[in-house]
Amino acid sequence: MKLSLTVNGNHLEMEVKVNARLLEVLRRAGYFGVKHGCDDGTCGACAVLIAPDAKTPGKIVNTCTMLAAQVEGMFITTIEGLGGIQQHGWKGTEPLHTLQQAFVETGAIQCGYCTPAQILAAKALLDREPNPIEAQVRDALAGVLCRCTGYVKPVEAVMQAAKTLRSDLGPQTADHSLPIGLQEPTPEELGPEGETLTQTRVLPKLIVAPTRTETQVFGKPEVKVDAVKLVQGKPAFTDDVELRGMLIGKILHSPVAHARITHIDASRARALPGVAAVLTWQDIPRVVYSTAGQSDPIPGPLDMFSLDSKVRFVGDRVAFVAAETDEIAQEALELIQVQYEELPAIIDPRDAMGNKTIIHDEPEYVNFADSEPHQNIAAKIRIDIGDVEAGFKQADLIFEDEYTVQKVQQAHIEPHVCVTYWDEDDRLVIRTSTQVPFHVRRILAPVLGLPPKRIRVIKPRIGGGFGGKQEVLIEDVCAHLTIATGRPVRLEYTREEEFTASRSRHPMRVRIKTGVKNDGTITANAMYALSDTGAYGCHALTVTGNTGHKSMALYPAYGIDRGDGVAPPEVSPNVRFYADVVYTNTPPSGAFRGYGVPQGYFPVDTHIERIARELGLDPLEFRLKNALRAGEDHPFSRAWSEGREPHPEKIQTCALQQCAEQGAAAINWARGSNGDWRSVPSKPWLRKGLGVALVMQGTAIPYLDMGAASIKMNDDGSFNVLVGATDLGTGSDTVLGQMAAEVLGVPLDDILMYSSDTDFTPFDKGAYASSTTYISGAAVVKAAQQVAEQIKEVAAEMLNAIPNTQYRIRPEELALHDKKAIAPDGHSVTLEQVALESLHHSNQRQIMAVASYMSPVSPPPFAAQFAEVTVDTETGQVTVDKLVMALDCGRIVNPATASGQIEGGMAQALGYGVCEEMLFDAKGRSLNPRFDAYRVMRADEMPQMTTIFVETDEPTHPFGVKAVAEIPMDGVAPAVANAVYDAVGVQVKGLPLTPEKVWRALREK
Ligand code: FES
Ligand code: FES
Repeated sequence: MKLSLTVNGNHLEMEVKVNARLLEVLRRAGYFGVKHGCDDGTCGACAVLIAPDAKTPGKIVNTCTMLAAQVEGMFITTIEGLGGIQQHGWKGTEPLHTLQQAFVETGAIQCGYCTPAQILAAKALLDREPNPIEAQVRDALAGVLCRCTGYVKPVEAVMQAAKTLRSDLGPQTADHSLPIGLQEPTPEELGPEGETLTQTRVLPKLIVAPTRTETQVFGKPEVKVDAVKLVQGKPAFTDDVELRGMLIGKILHSPVAHARITHIDASRARALPGVAAVLTWQDIPRVVYSTAGQSDPIPGPLDMFSLDSKVRFVGDRVAFVAAETDEIAQEALELIQVQYEELPAIIDPRDAMGNKTIIHDEPEYVNFADSEPHQNIAAKIRIDIGDVEAGFKQADLIFEDEYTVQKVQQAHIEPHVCVTYWDEDDRLVIRTSTQVPFHVRRILAPVLGLPPKRIRVIKPRIGGGFGGKQEVLIEDVCAHLTIATGRPVRLEYTREEEFTASRSRHPMRVRIKTGVKNDGTITANAMYALSDTGAYGCHALTVTGNTGHKSMALYPAYGIDRGDGVAPPEVSPNVRFYADVVYTNTPPSGAFRGYGVPQGYFPVDTHIERIARELGLDPLEFRLKNALRAGEDHPFSRAWSEGREPHPEKIQTCALQQCAEQGAAAINWARGSNGDWRSVPSKPWLRKGLGVALVMQGTAIPYLDMGAASIKMNDDGSFNVLVGATDLGTGSDTVLGQMAAEVLGVPLDDILMYSSDTDFTPFDKGAYASSTTYISGAAVVKAAQQVAEQIKEVAAEMLNAIPNTQYRIRPEELALHDKKAIAPDGHSVTLEQVALESLHHSNQRQIMAVASYMSPVSPPPFAAQFAEVTVDTETGQVTVDKLVMALDCGRIVNPATASGQIEGGMAQALGYGVCEEMLFDAKGRSLNPRFDAYRVMRADEMPQMTTIFVETDEPTHPFGVKAVAEIPMDGVAPAVANAVYDAVGVQVKGLPLTPEKVWRALREK
């Protein structure tokens, strides 16, 4: 049919199918700011504004559930229609829309995938209500799920934009600098008592390190380097390209949990017009590999094939199809005839070990460490530190309990998506939304039968990953189809596939036993974890290893009272961590932000809470009395290192005590002893409580993870910084750029960041293990220091060549700042002059350097997480009112991006604590594979969140940084559970804390 409509003021006439969705029609017309995150109207990423005419303000609608035919003759606004272009030569600069500018200025953009829809939803609100209260803003944003920000900064952005629009100022310039001091409440935001009415604050509280030195760019809340393009919905993501002749790839998934494929007939599918290829296990080489995106050698079993004659979970791969359209590909899947010989399925991990049913009986299986496939064991961990049994004997009391943590999904709003094609040199190009481009190339080369040099992996912007894209999940499918057809292929998971055929957090059943003296000294600590890796062992060993490594390490159980000091070197910790990671016929587990550590901290910290309460000790003092301290060895550092040789490692910096003090003050912990605040006037069924959890993480994997950077100087004194590191929305491009800018003495604007492309950027292991700021950052600093030396050499030559002077300066006497090389006496040359001199005038050479960094240590960040809750004693409903997190992450490179990480992490962790859970029936079929059934926190459901950074100056990094990205996942669930315990006196020992679980616990009290 012919469709006529107006998009962003342009009248369009298009030929579309009667059943075409508006989403596809708009994207095909080049409006890539309209995003895809689901297919049932539940994520809001595809939203646009629709109006009957040019004058009427548009209403927000989701285009994925709307037929294009429904908008015949209507007026549509997408993000591209809102405003703003950067300077295009002589054409000048148009300002961003006020909302876009506010999103840039407040740091409201992380991955930016939801940003266009958030801005349009906000515009619809402000068009009808120019003076909204915060609840209205949250309501307006509630229809657009954001998995990155925790909604703090987007809400603040809308409030700021509303204020600007009311004052009719509008954005006046193209200056996108972030206004420092925005966090101060204005008089109108203060209530009569001076309390803050607006919950949201852009910038965190920052307690600076005593050793902090003055800096120009490092430590400042700089605007993200990609913020402006993301706020305009520029085609930055994997799927924002159109290639001539591109086919659509699709996967036929198994409907049964465990079976052999006895017969497969794809002839009818192949005969369907428009089908370019159908591949079954008979068509492609059988190469065993692991989908876990980790360094070589992969620390886990090789137990996966692109396609196999056996399926191991509902959602496993059966066949691949490439066709001209989505509909044809779908129809082809339905024409593939498969006969399954069903095998008994293991759904409960407690049934796995020793079961007669063997999930991995293939002869090609490659063991790693202690995997025992005939026992359905993917990995086995046995770590003994000190003498745990002697520690238990030393104890006055023994506490033992069992806890469960559930399977949850990463739920990045951009699904897994990949485009593959042959380039003009017959090299295979893989354009993919991945956290690990270099691992993708290395791992896929043998699977595809190509040497790595004939593969190029390009990572565009990523719409969130959270570990889900640390998996080589669909790139092989797309590549096989391009190899089979010779044509470009695009493959994108549906939201249902994300829930049924992707990766997830390992569910675990954890038993803890702790010995304690009557004075509260812990004498021994033992944990056993039964961890469910699902059908494949990707990340099995390393995730579960971290469960003990980073949670049990916080309480070393020396068995002595250390007073204010540290444990003497001759006193050993008494810690045991055993785990079995078992195969089941459920969707595979994998990497998920926190990487096994949240699974450890829920049991560890709720167990600690129980001990403190039963001994009548102050919960916070009890924790601090026993917690690891600076100057002590990491208890696991002599015992375990992800299957490799361990190296002893001393904790250099730890501000846990100060974090506890700061957090306690922020949440008013002292009122815990006063009972009045616990009840809600005229609602006697409601009870309030406070909870705390102390946590630590790690920073990179020592002696393994490597990052590299290359820096090149341009004619105008700007710099290209190429990194293999992968910014998945975290802001790593920005903080790496800030470090380079600081060393080179230029504003961030003069640093042109590029990440990442295996052809052009140096190697980096990718974005995981909280390592980018630390490892890749150190590589950037090293490269920048080498470039700075070269600049100083040229600058010294230039200064010494000033005619008619006896001027003599050595390069090392020069300082770089304000875009100049400056001598102590004030003589200077600009960096532009240096660049022109070195490129064009004398002794010509390119000023550039490449540097790599691998760390021998993994300095832990520490944090105190507090929660305030209200519990409905009649329904069991838990409402989290406040979350306060005080952290020691070393020095903070950028308070805006760092606090965004904490807010987003706390939001994800809150979902883990109270509502998220992947559910399956007895046959292993998913019960909630959609956003409406699997609850992700919305803007209107969030508690007040406060972030406090307590800086330390970590001596192992040139700028003193430690990791920030994963630690917010660790403490929320136990802090909330402890607050519930505080409120109503019951301890729930399984996540999530659903109303039913709390209600049952109250009944059994
Ligand atoms: S609501 Fe349309 S893509 Fe999710
Ligand atoms: S910034 Fe919202 S989904 Fe990433």
